[in-house]
Amino acid sequence: MRARSFTLASSRLLLIAVCALWSSPRVNAETGAEAWLRYAPLSPQVSKSYERLPSTVVALDHSAVLKAAQQELIRGLTPMLGRTFTASSEFVQGNSIVLGRLAEVQALAPKENPPEPLGGDAYWLKSTRIHGSACLVIAASTERGVLYGAFEVLSRIAREESVSNLDEVQQPYAPIRWVNQWDNLDGRIERGYGGPSIFFADGKVRDDLTRAGEYARLLASIGINGCTVNNVNAAPAVLEDSFIAQVRRIADVFRPWGVRLSLAVDLSSPRVIRGLDTFDPLDPRVAEWWRKKVDEVYRQIPDFGGFVVKADSEGRSGPSAYGRTHADAANVIARALKPHGGVVFYRAFVYKHHLDWHDLNNDRAKAAYDNFHPLDGAFDDNAIVQIKNGPIDFQVREPVSPLFAGLRRTNEAIELQITQEYTGQQKQLCFLVPMWKEALDFDMRVDENSTHVKAIVSGRVFDRSLGGFVGVANVGMDANWLGSPLAMANLYGFGRLAWNPNLSAETIVDEWTHLTFGADPLVIATINKLQLRSWHVYESYTGPLGAGTLTNILGNHYDPGPESSEGNGWGQWHRADKQGIGMDRTIATGTGFIGQYPPEVQKLYEPLADCPDKLLLFFHHVPYTYVLHSGKTVIQHIYDSHYEGAEEATAFIAQWKALEAHVDQERYRDILSRFEFQAGEAGKWRDGICSWIYQLSGISDQKGRVGNSARR
Ligand code: GCU
Repeated sequence: MRARSFTLASSRLLLIAVCALWSSPRVNAETGAEAWLRYAPLSPQVSKSYERLPSTVVALDHSAVLKAAQQELIRGLTPMLGRTFTASSEFVQGNSIVLGRLAEVQALAPKENPPEPLGGDAYWLKSTRIHGSACLVIAASTERGVLYGAFEVLSRIAREESVSNLDEVQQPYAPIRWVNQWDNLDGRIERGYGGPSIFFADGKVRDDLTRAGEYARLLASIGINGCTVNNVNAAPAVLEDSFIAQVRRIADVFRPWGVRLSLAVDLSSPRVIRGLDTFDPLDPRVAEWWRKKVDEVYRQIPDFGGFVVKADSEGRSGPSAYGRTHADAANVIARALKPHGGVVFYRAFVYKHHLDWHDLNNDRAKAAYDNFHPLDGAFDDNAIVQIKNGPIDFQVREPVSPLFAGLRRTNEAIELQITQEYTGQQKQLCFLVPMWKEALDFDMRVDENSTHVKAIVSGRVFDRSLGGFVGVANVGMDANWLGSPLAMANLYGFGRLAWNPNLSAETIVDEWTHLTFGADPLVIATINKLQLRSWHVYESYTGPLGAGTLTNILGNHYDPGPESSEGNGWGQWHRADKQGIGMDRTIATGTGFIGQYPPEVQKLYEPLADCPDKLLLFFHHVPYTYVLHSGKTVIQHIYDSHYEGAEEATAFIAQWKALEAHVDQERYRDILSRFEFQAGEAGKWRDGICSWIYQLSGISDQKGRVGNSARR
């Protein structure tokens, strides 16, 4: 066997080197580029517990994806376990890790059957004997599934879990598990905080796509199977034939990782990119244009995923130019994609940004439902309506979009934002998995039955063929991808939830911390706690009680700027005035937004007395003296929340400092400086919002921190 050629002397040397590395983790400079795929050496004792894991990794076919899985296992197992693993392209008698599609595996071991059917990208991990040799089989019906199984085995070993006596199938919850990148062709990324684009520079696809390939590997490791590489505010140029030829190179580096490439496209492309004088989706010439264009794309990129469309939104062209519907627009593209197996994601983020703010009946939150609910059933079956989790725009606290329950005969995907546009821009810690879980676990009570958002978007509830999860990631050229080491838990968490939204936030963060920082229990417990508190802390000093947007919306979407939300047509209003605060979205006296939810959800939000405090100001306009369920007045809650939040953010520093001797210096210092910065920012938010609301309301803080009674 190949592994035997590895001599005892060299194995001792390797063991010594591994022990040295393991006992002094701090000598290992950490840039973060490896993210959660660090494959750090395990302690000798732990590695010993894997001594029966076979050293030969057999790939039963020669596909690029299986080869990637095989190489990944070797790349990970060798440093983690401190011994040599070798690749083989056929099974010959001997203990092996066997990778293959189910049919290939069953040709070798005809009696073996997975405990449940392997649909989609599911995989089967099975410890068994093949021709008398002990084997760990990783099988799936797609190559991609085998790759996911390989990453799972690596993750379990990195987290020191057993990989013996396995016989289990892991099924992804939904077929759509995609990320969107909002990369512009000049290399800048809209709402990106991790450096310039890994795909584009100066109007072209980058010459060096190494990072793009590494990104695909990271995405595959968490089960993501599609990536849209350019901004939803799409440059029509992406559909020029010469550009498609460049994009093809990105698809080439994605392919071994099972990540399908897709493009965001501008609906007016048939007119803008030479040729037609129209982009009317019902004009046969337009349909023909899309057909030809799509054929060209597939000629260059046979496994192309499809298109994302943002239309009639924030100044983008749309079907309204011709009096057509969003379904007309989606379908003309869907029909061109259909013969090739492609899909179109049509974004429900459609609203007028010139609303008359004097009119208290106007409400941007209603726009998605108003636009798309009447079109339910009109979209082709390879079209997916992509809906942001909340009805406004990725704010720190929003209820779920009522549109999830408003489409029964239409494929849906939930759009979550990994890049922290409104939640601290990676300068502040905000682990978003608990927020996403609240949305996914929300029960819409459709027809008075339990109907969780996750089950709707996956297609289960209304028996849709397609559906799932889209995350706006916006990684960049920064070594650690998102520009901040701890923010990477959001990318990891998105992938894990898309694979299995039933995982708890605690489980997800625990996995991530272990993979990223190693097994030290103090490190794991401390980082998990910081991450799990971080959203609540961030919310408490930037937007308590669902107040709406207090962030500067006309500028950077980061600093406090509550005045910027009012007095303009963008509709991110909080309606704070001298007497009170909050948007009245009730059916009885307000905008009627609550009426878009199923009746049982309406009952939760409509009566002022029942509305949960955390969303009170999203749904109701109340006087500052209104008393919450907690017994505090609204204004006192706002003061307290800002002070407590800023205090807790400051306390993050001391919690982190306790890890000084436990984390490599590079990450220790980097993260420390971020917490110190965040403490300052939290103070800025506290003082900014408290003094603004005091100026408006004239009501002092009972605790003497704000207003006339403030102790100077
Ligand atoms: C937000 C964001 C924009 C983005 C838009 C979208 O409004 O600030 O930059 O284009 O969302 O999702 O389309």
